[in-house]
Parts: sequence; structure tokens; C-alpha cells
Amino acid sequence: MTKKYFRLTLNERFQHLNLMINFTILVITGFALKYPTAFWVSPITDAPAGMTIRGFIHRLSGVALVTLGGYHLLYLLFSGRGRQIFKDMLPRWKDAKDLWETLKNNLFINRPAKEIKMDRFNYREKAEYLALLWGTLLMTVTGFILWFKVQWLQYFPKWTYEVAGAVHFYEAILATLAIVVWHFYSVLLDPDVYPMNWAWITGYMTEHEMKLEHGLELERIKASQKAELIDFDESAAAGGGRVQPAPQDQHSPIQRVYSTVRDLNENLKNWRGN
Ligand code: HEM
Repeated sequence: MTKKYFRLTLNERFQHLNLMINFTILVITGFALKYPTAFWVSPITDAPAGMTIRGFIHRLSGVALVTLGGYHLLYLLFSGRGRQIFKDMLPRWKDAKDLWETLKNNLFINRPAKEIKMDRFNYREKAEYLALLWGTLLMTVTGFILWFKVQWLQYFPKWTYEVAGAVHFYEAILATLAIVVWHFYSVLLDPDVYPMNWAWITGYMTEHEMKLEHGLELERIKASQKAELIDFDESAAAGGGRVQPAPQDQHSPIQRVYSTVRDLNENLKNWRGN
């Protein structure tokens, strides 16, 4: 039996799913405006008022993305787990060294290839996450400028509007390529995880994936489990009997949805200072 390691709570998986759906809608409805004659746009252009509905859906999804971003920020600020994620996401000197050693492994400069033990979030995940934060901010600002063109032009010169349009378009290309080439390779096509890293659905990673991507974190988890075992021996020796290690995630899906909503309420309450 493969051992599994907990990575994402139900709340975090919902955030990921929400991002995935909204991002896909934004990409389709955004590029349909730029390339209306492309074959995959015909279902939109053929539909009655298709292009008007496209514009409406793009804005609606844009607002949903901004709302999700706001929620994520609150999650990072007001939940213990969120604050730890933020700390663990900060770039460190070791990330640069890990990247350097990976390049040397891939170019056969390290022979034999060196084992690289990475932490809870490795350099690739940190770079992707920072790009996501920065990209979302940029798309939000430029998206709202495009949306409220008339109001914007009352205060700012026309070239600023044109720059916003160019930035929105080129960042859309960059973000789409980053997801299709970079993210899809590492979570789907990489032979080490193929056909998929299931953590975004199940919340768990396999020991093999943990070893390759988060060797340092795996060692830490194992060391803490060892510490627990020593406690058990001592209690058994003192006549405490058989002690079972606590199962990691025993709740039913309904209980987990409930605790997600409860966490959300807690976060909002803390945020409002109640
Ligand atoms: C990552 C997310 C996003 C992607 C991939 C994306 C993509 C695009 C693309 C490719 C265009 C066409 C640009 C052109 O024709 O030169 C566009 C236009 C536009 N986008 Fe976005 N966009 C995103 C987020 C947003 C957000 C957050 C908003 C605002 C809430 C927004 C509002 C607009 C508006 C108003 C336009 C122009 C008019 C229209 O679509 O009808 N976009 N977007």
C-alpha cells in the first residue's frame, strides 16, 4: 500500500477549482475577442448576441477572479494555516541553490545526478505562485481600465489606456502559456507524476511524489512521526497499553464542507474584528 501525505484542505481545493474554472473562462472569452474568426470561436460568433454575451461573461468571471483573490488574501492573513503557507512560500537562498543543482542535473554536469531535497514548497511552485499573484493583480488593474474606458479617459491620457490594453493582452498570453506549458507539464505530463498529481482532487500526495518534490518536508514529517512512536513506547512501558496513532483525515465529505464554511465564517469574523 502506498503511503499518502496530506497537502491541501478541502477549502484550498475549492479555491484551486474556482481559479481553474474562472481562468479557463477568461482565457476563452478573452482570446475570442482578439481572434473572432478562429475555428474554436464559431460557437460564440454563431450564437445570437454571442459576442455581447462573451463580453458579459468575461467581466463576470473577472469579478469572480478578483473576489477569489480577495478571499485568498483573507485566508492568508486570518487563518493559522494560511499564515504558515505564506511563510513557507517566501523565496529563500536555498531555492536558488536547488534551481542551480536541478539545471546541473539536467545538463549532466552533476554525474551521477544529485538528490535534491526540497521543502514544503519548492522553487518551481514558489515561482508559479508569485507569478499567479502578480499576474492576477496586473490583469485586474488593466481589466478594470478597459472596462471603464470612458471614466478612465476623463482623468488620464489616451496612451495610458492603450498601454493597459497591450499589457492585458500580452500578460494573457504569458499566463496561458505558463499554465499550458509549465503547470500542465509539472502536474500532468511529467513522467514522475503521470497521468496526474491527484492532490488537487484528493488533497493527498504519494510518498514517491513527496520524495521527489518535497524531500526535506518528507524527512520532517517522518521525524515527527518517529517522535510520536517513542512516546507510545514509553506509555506502553508505563502500563498505558496499546496506543494508536491518530488517523489523519477521518471526516466525511459533508463534515469537511461544513468545516470549510465554518472556517470561512471564522476568517470573516476575525477580519471584521468581532
Ligand atoms: C487571467 C485572467 C484574464 C485573461 C486571461 C484575460 C484575457 C483577455 C484577453 C485576451 C482580452 C482581449 C485583448 C485584446 O483584444 O487585445 C481581454 C479583454 C478584456 N478583459 Fe480580460 N482577461 C483576464 C482578466 C480580466 C479581468 C480580471 C477583467 C476585469 C474585471 C478583464 C476585463 C477585460 C475587458 C473589459 C476586456 C476588453 C473588452 C471585452 O472583453 O469585451 N479581464 N481579456
